[in-house]
Amino acid sequence: MPAIVLIGAQWGDEGKGKATDLLADRIDYVVKFNGGNNAGHTVVVGNEKYALHLLPSGILTPGVTPIIANGVVVDIEVLFSELDALSSRGIDVSRLRVSANAHVITQYHRTLDKVTERFLGKRQIGTTGRGIGPAYADKINRVGIRIQDIFDEGILRQKVESALDIKNHLLVKIYNRRGIDADAVVEELLSYADRLRPMVADTALELNNALDAGKVVLFEGGQATMLDVDHGTYPFVTSSSATSGGAATGSGIGPNRIERVIAVIKAYTTRVGSGPFPTELFDESGEFLRAAGFEFGTTTGRPRRCGWYDAPIARYTSRINGVTDFVMTKLDVLTGLAEIPVCVAYDVDGVRVEEMPVSQSDFHHAKPIYEMFPGWTEDITGVRNFADLPATAQSYVRALEAMSGARISAIGVGPGRDAIVVLHDLV
Ligand code: GDP
Ligand code: IMO
Ligand code: MG
Repeated sequence: MPAIVLIGAQWGDEGKGKATDLLADRIDYVVKFNGGNNAGHTVVVGNEKYALHLLPSGILTPGVTPIIANGVVVDIEVLFSELDALSSRGIDVSRLRVSANAHVITQYHRTLDKVTERFLGKRQIGTTGRGIGPAYADKINRVGIRIQDIFDEGILRQKVESALDIKNHLLVKIYNRRGIDADAVVEELLSYADRLRPMVADTALELNNALDAGKVVLFEGGQATMLDVDHGTYPFVTSSSATSGGAATGSGIGPNRIERVIAVIKAYTTRVGSGPFPTELFDESGEFLRAAGFEFGTTTGRPRRCGWYDAPIARYTSRINGVTDFVMTKLDVLTGLAEIPVCVAYDVDGVRVEEMPVSQSDFHHAKPIYEMFPGWTEDITGVRNFADLPATAQSYVRALEAMSGARISAIGVGPGRDAIVVLHDLV
């Protein structure tokens, strides 16, 4: 009954899409359990490049059943346009199942996301503007719209009207914007019903049955540990549970089903949006990583903030998620550096701190303490066996493994599907 969870170890964009794709031919189900179309997961197959947002990356592999589980927030228009775009490229999307309990992102969530960010000014989170935060806020506030509501016009109308009641006061009186017409929102949502109906299912039941039957289920996390609403750098986080525990609540399987937790981690660090980032580089090294790693957002196109590998974050991720295996991506990006700094601990106001500080204020002024590792110049993109990596690249990986809390089971050496060095089988 193997349930495998795959999550991001840092601040997102670690290469979860590629890692999922790597495992896809050995899995039966791929489940998105958190987030929505704020995610951007890239998969490169030969000359074809796919960017998945709302759909899990495993959808690209024939035979895999993709599931959008209850923990996800669904923008239905985006769902349909992503399905259409994949269909037009010859991908079979007919097996997709969507949880009746997943929440819906509506026009007013997108509007509120944008106006609240504008209102925050310099204190803004730097969200993706997709309505994620307001949709989850409504869920927790018990005024959300669920997928199943779309099939009951009376309930839908009642819920949209009561959700908009207070929001329109807010939009008009506080944010100085036009109010949103409840009828228009209801009509739009109802117009999706016929196409949506055949996809909707009790996905928790389906997943539990699949696990009972010995199927392999992969839970593909969106965002990452440091963006998790509980365990990340709050308030500079997303609004969902992006850590491994989120796979259970976000899909309706018991935590005891989970046998493996794979964390995808870059050989350095990036972040999009605001918030603390101790190893961030503001010099030519940062420019080097951005250019060599092509660090621009898959969803918003924003340049990613870049910095060195942060071992205290890796250890934190390891314990918060119960990581069994790391997939380390983008080792190839470091090629050409004479020396590679790695953050091994922090200096917080003159005190050496080995682990993530308890207080966020301390983390905001944590300065990285670096250890230097020798680099390599050889092109490693064609390497498929660990022993064929340059000795200094091997030492870099082994040193990171020793300080990160779990074994490194695969190493990415390029964006392509086969650009990977596998040390331990992941499924
Ligand atoms: P995700 O959100 O975690 O799925 O990651 P993104 O797709 O947003 O960003 C990762 C980027 O790195 C994508 O452009 C991938 O094609 C690329 N990538 C993944 N693994 C590797 C690797 O090992 N080497 C290189 N050079 N690129 C990689
Ligand atoms: P993947 O799955 C990187 C960031 C945003 C912002 C914060 C909150 O591709 O790794 P939100 O729109 O979620 O309310 O924004 O979270 N963020 C991501 N950063 N990768 C992502 O997804 C992200 N999803 C959200 O930039 O700082
Ligand atoms: Mg991404």
